[in-house]
Amino acid sequence: MTAPLTLDDVAAHLLARGVLAAPPDSVSVLAGGVSGATYLVTGPSERLVVKQPLPFLSVADEWPARMERAAVEAAALSLVGTLTPEVAPRLLDFDPERFVLVMAAAPASWVEWRTQLLGGTVVSWAGTTLGSTLGRWHSATVSDLPEVFTSLDGFLELRGDPYHRTVAARRTDLAPLVSACLDELLAAPTCFVHGDFSPKNVLIGPDSLWALDFEVAHRGNPVFDVAFMLHHLTMKAIHLPALASPLEDCALAFWRAYGDAGGLALDEPAVLRHTGALLLARVHGKSPTAYLTPAEAEQVSLLGERALRGGFGTLAELFAR
Ligand SMILES: Nc1ncnc2c1ncn2[C@@H]1O[C@H](COP(=O)(O)OP(=O)(O)O)[C@@H](O)[C@H]1O
Ligand SMILES: [Mg+2]
Repeated sequence: MTAPLTLDDVAAHLLARGVLAAPPDSVSVLAGGVSGATYLVTGPSERLVVKQPLPFLSVADEWPARMERAAVEAAALSLVGTLTPEVAPRLLDFDPERFVLVMAAAPASWVEWRTQLLGGTVVSWAGTTLGSTLGRWHSATVSDLPEVFTSLDGFLELRGDPYHRTVAARRTDLAPLVSACLDELLAAPTCFVHGDFSPKNVLIGPDSLWALDFEVAHRGNPVFDVAFMLHHLTMKAIHLPALASPLEDCALAFWRAYGDAGGLALDEPAVLRHTGALLLARVHGKSPTAYLTPAEAEQVSLLGERALRGGFGTLAELFAR
């Protein structure tokens, strides 16, 4: 095993791989990543991002699993690069021995969509773009998807266990319904699923955006990605009541565009049950949402329970609660 990349050897790596012909002007650590090291590299005419999973030093077994995720992310970037090249960074290099990815960096002025939303700006075109992008990914990958996406291990480790199984253990009254959601997710490996399709993993500029962070991509049930994005927008509407109406417009634009693009998860009551399971997970699961106050968390939990129990037939009803 080669040693993990450090800030000091990013430039040498890019030169050795032939990604750069001359040393870059600067290499800096990008904020935001927790499971890996992400660096920004700039030169006279290039802006690159270099990403490598970080091993948990205390758990030797983690390293191979995480390295595998880099290979998944590289394959996903290459796949979406052919399906929707304008909505994801271009993959420039992947070193399968060191598990280092190199991709194009977004313009310096772009921001995380989550930050923009929490700052009070909601543009509904982002919902439309994300919906049509996701619809395209799902519809185009049913019959033709590389082997690397077959394993559900990463999805179970990062979603099924901390979210659904933890809610089932802590809210035993809801265990049958939440376990049924997880069973549906595992039993229907239908198409390419991003697995972390959330505002945190979207970079947005004045009139375009990129989806990022494909480490949990897998062949799975498309309802997960739709519900995942919707549960984030729902939580933000509870946290920022003044923005509830534009957030609803954005969510509806996302859902419409997803259907228009041929998206596969079109059973609206099912999407809402899965959204409910995820809302519950963000209160009772292993990674509770940081920005919710206790009172908001209680609202999210009640709404999630109602949605999980089939209390909403349409997305508009969920937002009108
Ligand atoms: N291609 C890119 N261009 C600009 N910034 C990026 C790019 N890729 C990642 N980043 C920044 O680095 C952060 C972490 O990257 P991400 O792929 O989401 O990794 P993690 O798995 O650690 O969340 C992102 O939230 C974003 O701010
Ligand atoms: Mg991320």
